Amino acid sequence: MRVAHSTAEIRRQLKPLRGSKSIAFVPTMGCLHEGHLSLIKKAKEEADIVVVSIYVNPLQFGPNEDLERYPRTFEDDARLCAEAGVDFIFHPSSLYPKSGPKVTLKVDKLSDCLCGAKRPGHFDGVVTVVNILFNIIQPDIAVFGEKDWQQLAIIRRMVSDLQMPIDIIGSETIRESDGLALSSRNRYLSEDERIQAITLSQALIAMQAMAADGESDVEILTAEAMRALSDAAISPDYLDIRSTRTLKSKRKLNRQPARVFIAARIGNTRLIDNMPLSYPTE
Ligand code: PAJ
Repeated sequence: MRVAHSTAEIRRQLKPLRGSKSIAFVPTMGCLHEGHLSLIKKAKEEADIVVVSIYVNPLQFGPNEDLERYPRTFEDDARLCAEAGVDFIFHPSSLYPKSGPKVTLKVDKLSDCLCGAKRPGHFDGVVTVVNILFNIIQPDIAVFGEKDWQQLAIIRRMVSDLQMPIDIIGSETIRESDGLALSSRNRYLSEDERIQAITLSQALIAMQAMAADGESDVEILTAEAMRALSDAAISPDYLDIRSTRTLKSKRKLNRQPARVFIAARIGNTRLIDNMPLSYPTE
């Protein structure tokens, strides 16, 4: 495994492989866990060479968010990458000019709802850095987690609108045995908060069960879940059922695939999750 700390270095390292080897890319902000490792595994199945980037992107953090305290664990991350069979780590110190970025991207509509409504500018920061990373790595394939479903939908749209020759692969959410979706931010949780956090996935699983039993009314589905959350003293930023691809709000479940999305603060830690809702149409 080789580690590159600058754009020039990773370009130099990848140059001899271009054309003869397929390249899969897994962008991350580090503090790697089993969720990230599952993306790396998928990347290895899909291509000859796997490149992982580790970069805490300041552009996607709001002024009062956790940029400073976001965990930086490069040594552990590098060891995990080596064990997982990663070929190249790209670990730049910065990806922007000193005067700050003058070119940013925005994916309209998809970026305005859910987390986009609560974190203005967040997804503009994500698509801008992913675009820069794609320009540097020029992968054939890039793997993203379904845990960040809105991010995945937005990146798919960026790649399609900008006609980038990159296959975007979604990879399923990896969870703790009690259902909590793995996240680098879980390490902020106290013992009590960790117990409280289980309610998020439990509420979504209960909604899945109700939908599978034939409940199609979004108001009823969400009211039930809101009760369970409030019993656990959680008042979510949002709990929304939306169309899987367009992320448009839904009032009734029907043939069109739908997902439920949640974001909530547990103590000072903001967690997100989402799950598919399948409704019996026969
Ligand atoms: P980060 O939060 O480090 O996540 C990197 C990738 O890991 C994302 O595609 C995310 O969806 C995936 N991931 C995180 N937790 C997961 C889990 N429990 N199961 C499966 N996949 C999981 O997402 C980002 O970084 C950044 O926004 C980035 C795309 C790197 C741009 O800066």
